[in-house]
Amino acid sequence: MRCLITAGPTREHLDPVRFLSNGSSGKMGYALAAAATLRGWQVDLVSGPVALSPPMGVRMHRVTSAADMFAACEPLFATCDVFIAVAAVADFRPYAPSLQKRKKPGGPITLEVVPTIDILRTLAARKRPGQCVVGFAAETHDVEVHARQKLEAKHLDWVVANDVSQPNLGMNADDNAIVVLGAGGARHAFGPAPKPACAEFILRHLAPA
Ligand code: CTP
Repeated sequence: MRCLITAGPTREHLDPVRFLSNGSSGKMGYALAAAATLRGWQVDLVSGPVALSPPMGVRMHRVTSAADMFAACEPLFATCDVFIAVAAVADFRPYAPSLQKRKKPGGPITLEVVPTIDILRTLAARKRPGQCVVGFAAETHDVEVHARQKLEAKHLDWVVANDVSQPNLGMNADDNAIVVLGAGGARHAFGPAPKPACAEFILRHLAPA
């Protein structure tokens, strides 16, 4: 079983020292990579900048921006059996990044941004028969409604909904409370629990042993 996982945030640089990003720690994606490796799967982990050590046995691909992440994933997706997109990809990037450090103008500035590529949506549209594509939906309200919308809009097999309205759960936390929703209508809720336990739960439902 070959498994491709994205994890962590991306950084979209304005100039060499400044970037747009988010507070993703990468813990959920790394926990999934570790759990998949323990099942004997071959795991490629494409990770944005995080402060975590690579799980044992995982093939690491370190990237910075959404464009880098897509470039790393594209060839790996073609040969994987399962793709799990956990990364908190920055939704926008500066339209005109500067190669030199920008100087402060002394007053307000307006930053022009453009959408980044949606890695999950783009790759899910190329899904082969038998391939399993899984997304994450971090939501603060109407969690399952929004997650199901993402499942359908991006043509996923599964979406993992997580409630990020509480500071000790979800993004950048050690624990998560998840609901695994399937394209066929399946619904499996779990937690709050440590992310490694959530990872086990998710894999159990995607690919029952
Ligand atoms: N994703 C991705 N590439 C992007 C954006 C998101 O691969 N450019 C993936 C994430 O890894 C996650 C899922 O898509 O699996 C999240 O979907 P998305 O609709 O982007 O979620 P949000 O960014 O939370 O969207 P919104 O702000 O509209 O709720």
